[in-house]
Amino acid sequence: MDDLDSLRGRTLAAIAGASGEEALEQVRVAALGKKGEISLRMRELGRMSPEERRSAGPVLNALRDEIDAALRARRAALADAALEARLAAEWLDVTLPGRPRPRGTVHPVSQVTEEVTAIFADMGFAVAEGPQVESDWFNFDALNIPPEHPARQEHDTFFMARAEGDNRPPHVLRTHTSPVQIRAMQAHGAPLRVIAPGRVYRMDMDLTHTPMFHQVEGLAIDRDISMAQLKWTLEEFCRAFFEVDRVELRFRASHFPFTEPSAEVDLRCSWAGGQLKIGEGDDWLEILGSGMIHPRVLEAGGIDPARWQGFAFGMGIDRIAMLKYGIPDLRAFFESDLRWLRHYGFGPLSAPALHASLGG
Ligand code: DAH
Repeated sequence: MDDLDSLRGRTLAAIAGASGEEALEQVRVAALGKKGEISLRMRELGRMSPEERRSAGPVLNALRDEIDAALRARRAALADAALEARLAAEWLDVTLPGRPRPRGTVHPVSQVTEEVTAIFADMGFAVAEGPQVESDWFNFDALNIPPEHPARQEHDTFFMARAEGDNRPPHVLRTHTSPVQIRAMQAHGAPLRVIAPGRVYRMDMDLTHTPMFHQVEGLAIDRDISMAQLKWTLEEFCRAFFEVDRVELRFRASHFPFTEPSAEVDLRCSWAGGQLKIGEGDDWLEILGSGMIHPRVLEAGGIDPARWQGFAFGMGIDRIAMLKYGIPDLRAFFESDLRWLRHYGFGPLSAPALHASLGG
């Protein structure tokens, strides 16, 4: 019996001392497992005489039940302690004020619009705006694109629905930011220096076209504005925007109804190794359309072309965003995919600081 007492003592002590589930399981196996000390003794009962068994059996049974109960109690206590520890570790004071952790990002189009605006603001250009649902007169006629002009077809225009019986030309989703030229001229007269960034719409969809995209229009009107000032302004802009010291622009004769003469402007670049480098190499990148404002356009804006002249240009914001930040597919700009936005987006607090890189 002494022997059983010591087994009981040892086992209970081991149970009390087990520091975790695993240690406790080892104690259980050592006592009550198939080859456990108590199990082996119970097996010996079979070899005893009936009298011996009658006295030893109940003692062993009682011991087995006691150990079993102690194991259960200890297991429950360990689980409680683990839960307590977790509750203490994961404690949260819900009465504390919230700490805002900004998760959103600034869309590349917003970022680039800000950058462009900052650069032109530094050169004295104000920002002008116009409606996205525009009258056919502002979008076309006033810009010297009469109804029969082929440019109207090229614009793949979205037309607004007309009320029944209304025979006036339908309004359109503006196909370019150029109508803002007319609105700014009418609102402010000459001299004038404005840019007009914003959304424009055309029925087009592929890797480099989406039905909605962004342009920025630029306009400078004064007594003696010339193509030379246009070139300087655009060079200065490209230098600041692409953050390079040297840029070279090439003016290619072109045609736009609202300018005369008109030029498309290319930027010297290199695509060596698949990477775009501005200002070096033998490739040319078309970046915008421009020219001297057509006298009829000045007239439509209420400005006397005999006294004033000016330059204008129009540039795709999405396009220069793709070039500057190496974004391959335009369509992804407008799919609202959070992974794309996190990858290409800008920190909400990182405002563009390009003023510093402007010369002069
Ligand atoms: N409006 C033209 C377009 O959407 C771009 C453009 C070209 C604007 C020449 C201008 C300009 O102001 O002078 O394709």
